[in-house]
Amino acid sequence: MGIYFSFRLKDFILMIPALQAYFMERSILRKIQSLYKKSDQLLRSGEFGAGLWPVDPVVGHFLTQLITQYDLKKGVEIGAGVGYSSAWLGVGFQRTGGNLTSLEYFLPKVKQWEKHMKSLFGPDFEQIMQIAPTDFRKWINHLGAKKLDFVFLDHRKNEYLESLQVLLPHLRKGAFVCADNVVSHAKECQAYLDFVRKDLRFKAVTLEIGQGLELSRYLPVK
Ligand SMILES: C[S@@+](CC[C@H](N)C(=O)[O-])C[C@H]1O[C@@H](n2cnc3c(N)ncnc32)[C@H](O)[C@@H]1O
Repeated sequence: MGIYFSFRLKDFILMIPALQAYFMERSILRKIQSLYKKSDQLLRSGEFGAGLWPVDPVVGHFLTQLITQYDLKKGVEIGAGVGYSSAWLGVGFQRTGGNLTSLEYFLPKVKQWEKHMKSLFGPDFEQIMQIAPTDFRKWINHLGAKKLDFVFLDHRKNEYLESLQVLLPHLRKGAFVCADNVVSHAKECQAYLDFVRKDLRFKAVTLEIGQGLELSRYLPVK
């Protein structure tokens, strides 16, 4: 009797779009957790080089909330890896109806990224996010006219400043630029940190979560 009732209740709940979305998202969040549990196993396969270096889940969760609360619509991440950070960002952009381009130049990781996104967001994941299997320097010419309101940097730490400078003309006023590992790799990130902290177009703060996240907002006067 109890089981019969709960099945009927579930059917009823699934008819309500908001609850349906909630259950779908809950299932994605659970799958992201299991992705973290599989990371050692993936690395041991030897296919992905020296490391996967997934973003800390606390940082990932923060980024999902940032995208959601500011209703961000067009994002880029540099250093997609096999997709831990992309998964968190994808949940945010799925909520806002926005879109993410993830850049990763190491092809075995690109393939695994695609598998992960398909398993998390389903076969239509490309409506939320696409991967560009290339270096950010080659990709930048393909970035159309629409301005970016979100950037996540998680590639080579000593290239953060160069990538920001390449992306700068494409930032919308109010855009967020988030850079990971600024505490764990403070030395390699120093030039980048000096730039966002001193340039008057940016307001920057270091969040001591995960490996250290530099959260900067692009607020030029004009
Ligand atoms: C720290 S890992 C990314 C981890 C990923 N964000 C995650 O949370 O799963 C850095 C990745 O950046 C990629 N990468 C480094 N330099 C790059 C570049 N110039 N263009 C594109 N990808 C780059 C590397 O191949 C590596 O997979």
